This record gives sequence, C-alpha cells and structure tokens, in this order.
Amino acid sequence: ADKTYDYDVLVIGAGPGGYVAAIRAAQLGLRTACAESRDTLGGTCLNVGCIPSKALLHASELYEEATGGHLAKFGVNFEGVSLNLDQMHAEKAKAVGELTGGIEFLFKKNKVTWLKGKAAFKDGHTVEVAGQTVTAKDIVIATGSVVTPLPGVTIDQEVVVDSTGALALPKVPEHLVVIGGGVIGLELGSVWRRLGAKVTVVEYLDQILPGFDGEVRKESAKLFKKQGMELKTSTKVTGVTVEGGRATVSVEPAAGGAAETLSADAVLVAIGRKPNIDGLNLEAAGVSLTDRGQVAIDHDFRTNVPGVWAIGDVAPGLMLAHKAEDEGVAVAENIAGQTGIVNHDVIPSVVYTMPEIAGVGLSEEAAKAKVGEVKVGKFPFMANSRAKTNRDTDGFVKVIADAKTDRVLGAWIISSLAGTMIAQVAQAMEFGATSEDIAYTCHAHPTHSEAVKEAAMAVQGKPIHI
Ligand code: FAD
Ligand code: NAI
Repeated sequence: ADKTYDYDVLVIGAGPGGYVAAIRAAQLGLRTACAESRDTLGGTCLNVGCIPSKALLHASELYEEATGGHLAKFGVNFEGVSLNLDQMHAEKAKAVGELTGGIEFLFKKNKVTWLKGKAAFKDGHTVEVAGQTVTAKDIVIATGSVVTPLPGVTIDQEVVVDSTGALALPKVPEHLVVIGGGVIGLELGSVWRRLGAKVTVVEYLDQILPGFDGEVRKESAKLFKKQGMELKTSTKVTGVTVEGGRATVSVEPAAGGAAETLSADAVLVAIGRKPNIDGLNLEAAGVSLTDRGQVAIDHDFRTNVPGVWAIGDVAPGLMLAHKAEDEGVAVAENIAGQTGIVNHDVIPSVVYTMPEIAGVGLSEEAAKAKVGEVKVGKFPFMANSRAKTNRDTDGFVKVIADAKTDRVLGAWIISSLAGTMIAQVAQAMEFGATSEDIAYTCHAHPTHSEAVKEAAMAVQGKPIHI
C-alpha cells in the first residue's frame, strides 16, 4: 500500500452510496475511512428516508386494513381497534436503530474507519474532519441530497414540515396539505390519510408522478382519489402563513386565475431534493459542478479532479438508494483498478403506496421518442387469478417492446406486489430479453407474477386470460 496517504480511500458520507463504497473498497484490500457527520450511519435512507417511511407505510396499512372493514368479507371481524401512534413511531425507531447499528457492525467487520464529523476539502487529496487533517489517495464524494426549499415557505417542523418532520408528527393531523405530487407526497400523504387525516395534494404539473409512464400516472391518480386523497393538479402554491398552530395555504391555477385558500393543521413541502454540497469546500479541490448543481462525473464516476470521485444523490441521475448502492460498488471497483459499471438504463423506481407503483426502463412516451415504433402489452390484475382470489385487483402490468426487435424497453406495474415484481423485468432487461423471452418463461400459478408473463404475451398479441 502507498503510505504517502493516511488512507487509500476516504469516502465522504455514509448513506447507501457511501457506506457501500467504503465496504467494497475495504473488501478489495484498500485502507478505507468514511466520514459521516450524523450520529448514526446509513444516511438519509436509513435515518429519515426509505426505512422510516416504509415502517410507517406498513404500520398504517395494517391499521387501515383493521379499521376499514376490508377484512370482514374474509370473515375476519374485529372490535375496538384503536391507534397507538406513539407505539407506531417507537417500532419505526427500533427498525431504524437496528439497521443503522447494522452498518456500524459491517464497518467494524470490514475494518472501515468511521471518522465522526463533517468533512471539508483542503485539496484534492486532503480533507479536514472534526479538526483533524486526513489524506487519501482517492476520495469519494457521497454527501447525498437535501430538501429543495419552496421560496417564501418556512419549514418550522411543527406545522410546516419536510419529509423528516412528516415522519415524526406527534398526532394525526386533521387536514394535511401536501405541496408536491411526487413520491414523498404520495407515500407520506398515504400514511396520514390511512391514519385518519384529510389529505390534499397540490401539484404544479397537470399530473402527479412526473417521469412515470403516462397511463400509469393517470391510473395512479384515479386510485389515490378512490382512496379519498384530494389531488389538485395544475395548481401552484403562492404562499403559506401560520398562525396559532394552523396554516393558511394560498393556491391558484398554475396558468393563472382565481386564487383560493386551504386551511390546514399540517403542511408537507415535498417538491424535490437537491445535491448536498454544503460546507464541503469543493472549490479547494477544484471540483466542477453541472449546471444543476450536481457534482459532474464521467461514466466511471470520476470528477474533473484526478483521485476525486462522486456517486449517489449528489451526482446526476435518479435519486434512489439502490442507484447509489450500485454506484458505491462500481466506484470502489474502479478505484481498485477493476471495471465497475452501472447500467443507468435499468434502474427500477417504486412508489410504496397501496397498490405499489413500479417501473423500469422507458415510459411508452420516452420509448416512442427513442426508437419510433413500439409494441405495448397490458394485462389487468382483474384477470389474474391470485389477485382476484385475494380481492386485490387494482392495477395492471404494461410491457413496452421495440416493434422491430421485440427487445423489452420498459415495464410498469401497479399492484400490491409491484415493487417486488419489477425485479424480474429489470433482470430480463439486463439480459437483453425480448417480450417473447418473458412470455415463454414458466411462471408459478397462482401468482401475481403471471400478470407479467401475460402482459408480455399481450405484446405478441396472444394473451390467454383476456
Ligand atoms: P444520503 O443517503 O443522503 O447520505 C449522505 C450522507 O452524507 C448523510 O448521512 C450526510 O449526513 C452525510 N454528509 C453530507 N455531507 C457531509 C460532510 N461534509 N461530511 C460528512 N458527512 C456528510 N430511495 C429509494 O430508493 N427507496 C425509497 O423507498 C426511498 N424513500 C425515501 C423516503 C424519503 C422520505 C426520502 C427523503 C428519500 C427516500 N429515498 C428513497 C431516497 C434515498 O434516501 C436516497 O436516494 C439515498 O439516501 C441517497 O444515498 P446517498 O448515499 O447518495 O446519500
Ligand atoms: P419528486 O421530484 O418525486 O416530486 C416533486 C413534485 O413536486 C413533482 O411532481 C413536481 O412537479 C412538484 N412540484 C415542484 N415544485 C412545485 C411547486 N412549487 N408547487 C407544487 N408542486 C411542485 O420529489 P419528492 O417527492 O420531494 O422526493 C424527492 C426524491 O426522493 C424523489 O425524487 C425520489 O428520488 C426520492 N424518494 C424516493 C422514494 C422511493 O423510491 N419510493 C420515496 C421518497 C423519496
């Protein structure tokens, strides 16, 4: 090892990108440290993102099942169901604690040194962490992202909250106004609606879930409305004022027109996230940014400064934990002189509502724009025997293939199990599958997954069950 530096690799940030990069670098025999300023490892995802949100989604789903009368038709009757929100939060905190503690265990097991504190560059091979100067041959920036603020709206984490505040509300709001009909707004809006809040989502665009397939966006909006969520699309928020624990949210049509006000006891601002480069002192190292403020990188995750790399939410691409993790593995392998690659064309996206909404690859609109003619196969869960048996028939599978080659370009699934099912299409796409390959793969009966096979058969024009 080159002892000119304190470490071979220094990773800044211990989220899914950074902790994975550090562990893989150590596995490859590199002397590795990871700087993290939070009290626990795991980044946004484990502490205030993926994990606590999924804990509340799961718990609130159980509550809604128990209280909504849905189980009575299966002959399961209850009486006296009640909500203990403190216990729900406690169980969430327990899951988070076990998982963040698990990363600390993995650091010890792999001999990754945790440098506790905020890191700032001094030059391309040197950072300062908690008053200590640390040098490394290679430095990976994995500092993640932070909430995009809405100009003129102050987040007080009591009445006006961001996702972190919305994961910890001490009581169920009577009326929650969500600003932003994206992933966070729909997931956390669903949590509080299930627990009894009236929820109004205000979205600037004419549809929720930008970036998703058009039909999927439409069907999702229909399902959320059926569940009792109010969606105000093509609407902009012009201001939020707070007085005596209540907020007044002023909105007007995005195209201009008559203004109205919404009275709420909680407002969630969820209009996106932005790269976190605050206090990193990137100028000292001379690291360039993109015009959108992300750390600019090449295909191998190298910045413009030799020895400095960037991955995850702070770099361009989807802001998703599994994208960050895969980049973490790849960057460590590249640093070790191997060939680390991430196929950014095949990154699944999942919204963990009920039903879940999942996609991988291109939307129908994007596929047409890219290759011209496409063939689309759709299969509704209404015609899937297992979904029908479980009385779980919301949603469909949509498979999009290149009309000339039959190669699968994208797939979209709305289903209670969509997040798990999308993995099979991702794997098929990674292997360059055609829709015929999926259609002629034997799927177990009776499973929701048969709907993927049938949608692929529908691309061929020959589904059996519709
Ligand atoms: P982060 O996880 O943000 O980690 C960066 C870390 O770097 C932080 O811990 C930070 O403290 C640390 N840091 C920053 N600057 C410094 C510094 N100078 N010195 C030392 N440490 C520093 N994605 C999914 O795929 N699935 C989901 O279900 C999902 N749910 C989400 C729910 C919510 C409410 C939110 C907010 C996000 C969710 N995400 C989800 C997105 C996911 O959390 C991010 O994509 C992921 O955490 C990005 O990983 P990262 O390693 O790039 O950065
Ligand atoms: P988002 O980008 O998903 O959605 C933001 C929404 O707000 C968009 O629909 C946008 O059009 C709208 N918007 C923007 N400005 C607005 C304004 N002024 N008024 C009204 N609407 C406005 O961002 P979100 O939901 O904040 O989530 C941030 C990121 O976190 C996501 O992009 C995703 O990468 C990640 N995430 C992933 C999850 C998952 O994978 N299940 C769950 C939660 C977050």
